[in-house]
Amino acid sequence: MSSSPVSSVYVYRDFVLSMLSLFCGRLYPTLRPPPADLTGKITVVTGANSGLGFQIALDLARQKATVFLACRNASKAQEAISRITSAVPDSVDRVKALSLDTSSPSSVRECAEGWKNTESKIDILFNNAGVPSSPEQPFTVDGFPTTYATNFLGSFLLTQLLEPCLSNEARVIFTSSTGHYISDFTPTFSLEAVKNRLEPGFHAPKAAVRSNGSAADSTIYGNTKAMQIAFAKLLQSRWNAAAKASGRTNERVVHAFSPGFTQTPGLPKMTPLSIWKYSPLQVWEDRGFWLLGATTVLATDVSQGAATAVWLATTKDEAVAGEGMGGGYWERMTKRAATVDAMSTEMLERFWIRWEADAGITWR
Ligand SMILES: NC(=O)c1ccc[n+]([C@@H]2O[C@H](COP(=O)([O-])OP(=O)(O)OC[C@H]3O[C@@H](n4cnc5c(N)ncnc54)[C@H](OP(=O)(O)O)[C@@H]3O)[C@@H](O)[C@H]2O)c1
Repeated sequence: MSSSPVSSVYVYRDFVLSMLSLFCGRLYPTLRPPPADLTGKITVVTGANSGLGFQIALDLARQKATVFLACRNASKAQEAISRITSAVPDSVDRVKALSLDTSSPSSVRECAEGWKNTESKIDILFNNAGVPSSPEQPFTVDGFPTTYATNFLGSFLLTQLLEPCLSNEARVIFTSSTGHYISDFTPTFSLEAVKNRLEPGFHAPKAAVRSNGSAADSTIYGNTKAMQIAFAKLLQSRWNAAAKASGRTNERVVHAFSPGFTQTPGLPKMTPLSIWKYSPLQVWEDRGFWLLGATTVLATDVSQGAATAVWLATTKDEAVAGEGMGGGYWERMTKRAATVDAMSTEMLERFWIRWEADAGITWR
């Protein structure tokens, strides 16, 4: 990686700006990304049967792309396809389902193998599937923290397996979150895969992991969302370096974005009144709790939450799509400094080594 870390001052500044737009998003001007003609473009959206993923898929179908909805539930995927084709009747032959459970490495592998056997290139890949937290099932059957496996590890593995299918001008977009600002990492985390363990300083801030191995849900979520941004930076720098080494130009870009608070089925349905259902300890220990409590009141329409994703995938703006310009974190179609932008190269590379170990792959 060649870029040097940005000053934390910029990260704090953009944290404050992001908090403002979280709370005042409904008062801000409507985002209107210019429509594009995506005829012939092949797109894949993970977690596309609901919320932001559904809206992204709908917007892509309206812009004449071929859209694959990669979902873990086949009937929900079919229902989403029906809704899209009802809204966009000429998309009937262009909107299709793929089976994918991002929390399961074997499902990710099957999905990628299936793709390679039946399809060809991918022009735009949206790694969008995610869960706010998984208190009922803290670990997957494979022994990874469920939020980490769903929100991050599955996307890491999927992107690696599908990399040979990405077109020369492909874009990869991650649905990250303003919640990444509550992430915290320490350089002492293990580089080896450790099953059924919440790794302090990696899956969740070290201070947040309790003696019984649990941690506040929003702190685990925040770390997964920061990892997506770190991954975008690291992948872009790898693509740029590989192109430079072989004397060609690199037109692939990868970005992460925050949708802000968006009205989706995935938002915790907490109102100021339902706070009484939670124990005072739960409320005190979870730094994201108060923020989440405000969402039903403050969240914007889903089309606004998805607008930045669709813009990143389609714009010709040099800052987004210029040669080697990826690796950015965006909010409301504006580039922001993320927490990981202030981290050293060494620290970011440690993440990559651990992700490789967890995914059981080598990806240099
Ligand atoms: N809404 C917000 O304010 C907000 C803010 C910041 C970031 N985000 C992020 O936006 C993304 C989309 O969330 P959303 O708000 O649109 O919530 P949502 O309506 O619940 O959508 C989440 C989607 O992800 C899918 N999904 C969950 N686990 C999966 C798995 N293991 N494999 C495959 N798909 C899976 C869900 O499928 P099922 O229907 O089968 O569960 C659903 O389609 C998430 O990454 C979330 O963290 C949302």
